[in-house]
Amino acid sequence: MKVFITRVIPEVGLKLLTDAGIPFEMWTEKRDLTQEELINRCKQFDALLSVGANKIDKIFLRACAHLKIISLMSVGYDNVDVAEALEYGIPITNTPGVLSNATADTAFLLMLAVSRKAFYLHKKIINGDWGFYEPTADLGIELYGKTLGIFGLGKIGFEMAKRCIGAYGMNVIYYNRGINEEAERVLKATRVSFDQLLQQSDVLSVHASLTAETKDKFDWTAFRKMKPGAIFINTSRGGVHKEEDLIRALEEGLIWGAGLDVTNPEPMHAGNVLLQMPNVAVLPHIGSATVETRNAMAEIAAKNIIAAYRDEPLLNPVLS
Ligand code: DGY
Repeated sequence: MKVFITRVIPEVGLKLLTDAGIPFEMWTEKRDLTQEELINRCKQFDALLSVGANKIDKIFLRACAHLKIISLMSVGYDNVDVAEALEYGIPITNTPGVLSNATADTAFLLMLAVSRKAFYLHKKIINGDWGFYEPTADLGIELYGKTLGIFGLGKIGFEMAKRCIGAYGMNVIYYNRGINEEAERVLKATRVSFDQLLQQSDVLSVHASLTAETKDKFDWTAFRKMKPGAIFINTSRGGVHKEEDLIRALEEGLIWGAGLDVTNPEPMHAGNVLLQMPNVAVLPHIGSATVETRNAMAEIAAKNIIAAYRDEPLLNPVLS
């Protein structure tokens, strides 16, 4: 079994493949492969270890139906037509669990940065604008005892809630399709309707996957219903919020601010108006970008390939 890897991944994953006697080739150029290039490459391989948002759609799958496994080095799989892959008998695997802490840390970091305008003030210093001390200028807001609303309370949302409870004694509400019993028991979280989530959250943090149901869920209608002075955080996928509507909500002062680790498109254009706003903090999709987490993700992605090679049960099959 020969594996094609679409980006340079941590050594730990490569070593696992080598030790298992599985040859691989890795794309090392610092640009995305076009779909045509990816298809042409994959035709010469038996397995794909996919990093990033490669389009694994009907066109790709039809052309590469011979693949024995597509192992994603990500928890998100919105770039994959899973149903179609399963039709072709190609298993898809992902890397859930191991990035919950790192991603929750990123959401927490953004929340705090937005509440204190940290990125904007840092930029002011760089621009030589550490000016005269004014007791009423550039003030932030505090988070003690406020309400955290989680949109999509799974493993990452759970970790975010734990941090917010521990640091600020925040109350937790959440919107999920089903009840999260562990969150209700351990975090005393309360499940609410989507409208209640909008109306009651002081901080609204998005942790849901991007699906047909969640795409553009945070649009003008949603932002208008949010609590005045609320903070909007998104560390899941940029497609869950509508950027032009978020910009309008911020410009019209409907909400206090926004912290984004994900945008649509990515990369965000350097001239984007969000980057100039005092109450906005943007990061370049670094949710899982720690040494520990990326090592763990590479390890799981490689282990899934090895399991397929040995005809053993896969660690993390994506079922739908
Ligand atoms: C994921 O794993 O889905 C993260 O967004 C990293 O891409």
